Amino acid sequence: TRNGIDFAVADLSQAEFGRKEIRLAEHEMPGLMALRREYAEVYPLKGARISGSLHMTVQTAVLIETLVSLGAEVRWASCNIFSTQDHAAAAVVVGPHGTVEEPKGVPVFAWKGETLEEYWWTAEQMLTWPDGGGPNMILDDGGDATLLVHKGVQYEKAGVVPAASEDDPEEWQIVLETLRKSLAADSGKWTKIAEGIRGVTEETTTGVMRLYQLAAAGELLFPAINVNDAVTKSKFDNRYGIRHSLIDGINRGTDVLMGGKVAVICGYGDVGKGAAESLRGQGARIIVTEIDPICALQAAMDGYDVQVLEDVLDKADIVITTTGNKDVVRIEHMERMKHQAIVGNIGHFDNEIDMAGLQRYPGIQRINIKPQVDEWVFPDGHSILVLSEGRLLNLGNATGHPSFVMSNSFSNQVIAQVELFTKYQEYDKEVYRLPKVLDEKVARIHLEALGGKLTKLTKDQAEYIDVDVEGPYKPEHYRY
Ligand code: NAI
Repeated sequence: TRNGIDFAVADLSQAEFGRKEIRLAEHEMPGLMALRREYAEVYPLKGARISGSLHMTVQTAVLIETLVSLGAEVRWASCNIFSTQDHAAAAVVVGPHGTVEEPKGVPVFAWKGETLEEYWWTAEQMLTWPDGGGPNMILDDGGDATLLVHKGVQYEKAGVVPAASEDDPEEWQIVLETLRKSLAADSGKWTKIAEGIRGVTEETTTGVMRLYQLAAAGELLFPAINVNDAVTKSKFDNRYGIRHSLIDGINRGTDVLMGGKVAVICGYGDVGKGAAESLRGQGARIIVTEIDPICALQAAMDGYDVQVLEDVLDKADIVITTTGNKDVVRIEHMERMKHQAIVGNIGHFDNEIDMAGLQRYPGIQRINIKPQVDEWVFPDGHSILVLSEGRLLNLGNATGHPSFVMSNSFSNQVIAQVELFTKYQEYDKEVYRLPKVLDEKVARIHLEALGGKLTKLTKDQAEYIDVDVEGPYKPEHYRY
């Protein structure tokens, strides 16, 4: 705690560097800056206590400071152990008007290279406010903050945290341990926190999937807005963001030439499409794997070879998972890969690649090349290079998506926070999407910033295609 702000970051003295990059990012985030202007002196988030769990990058710093400028109090943690940019975290703690000695910003609990124990500690800190209360809003990416609250409530009701079983992943055992400690200290902590929460806004595909599962089971404790499925989020961030940041991660991690190499992209959803474009742009030869015939056909029509992973291991120089599913690259794949094949994941969680199986492999040797790059040498002498220990490599090996695309995503986040915070009584414990007019508003701002000029409908034309001159221009079922 310094100047009344509790925080845990790597090095506060990096704040000045962070502030410089935040200043540059602000210019590249016209959506967030427009929202700051639109709500100047209105403070729609006055009284909001937002606990945020989202990669603590420069772009997120601009998001946090936008929430603050709209009147919110904020506490933050990263949603991944490798994704924090330490200078951004420091700058957010110091704040635009503070100093290292006298920080005036936001409590942040995030540093690059957390252990899993530390990660879940930061999650609890982010959700625990110093006055003993909790947040009244959650801003989540991947659903870990929401999970902690829901599991906490569930185990408080049961009066006991179940013992982990042998087969549980290491991380789950840590979650259980975190909750066991909090249950021992205060048996009503999470129930109290959950009661105060008006809603959650969720950033990504994987977190949204978890929310729909909770809602379907009737277990969702508060309303949720699915930000991911705003068109200006998933069709932009997941695709064009990945197109930029995937090769950034591979380059910074390995500096290997991608042209001419064979790259396998597992999954051809929004992220997979961006990933394939990213590597094709470098001249790589792309193979796509899919389980969904529609996405597989799209890949084929886009000119990619659609194959199953087992059949292409002898050719693959680079294998990237983008599925949001588990056990996609397994040990029986990795042991057959080419020498120094690069293996990485860009989906939300690290279970797409069987890292546990790799660690257990008899006689395997791990050589750490540099942070977030490991060479795993099999007993026969051949090796593979695994990026970011199987966690999302665009944020682990590089700095994630650039500002302009995140401005789209985060504008939707801010709009969703304002909507749920101010109108929570109008929402049930379900998962909602933002109205299309707001999506179009976000697109309009960013198009303008790029110098694009929009054609205006005549009244006659609007009637002919049965839309309003001012939008929305498409029916809900339109797919873009
Ligand atoms: P999506 O649902 O559009 O695409 C996933 C695709 O993977 C689907 O087409 C599905 O059919 C396919 N798939 C599922 N299991 C498969 C398997 N075993 N083999 C091959 N293909 C399989 O989801 P989206 O939006 O593309 O997101 C994917 C993941 O990336 C999610 O975990 C999401 O949270 C994450 N994400 C990561 C970002 C980053 O910056 N690293 C940015 C945005 C999303």
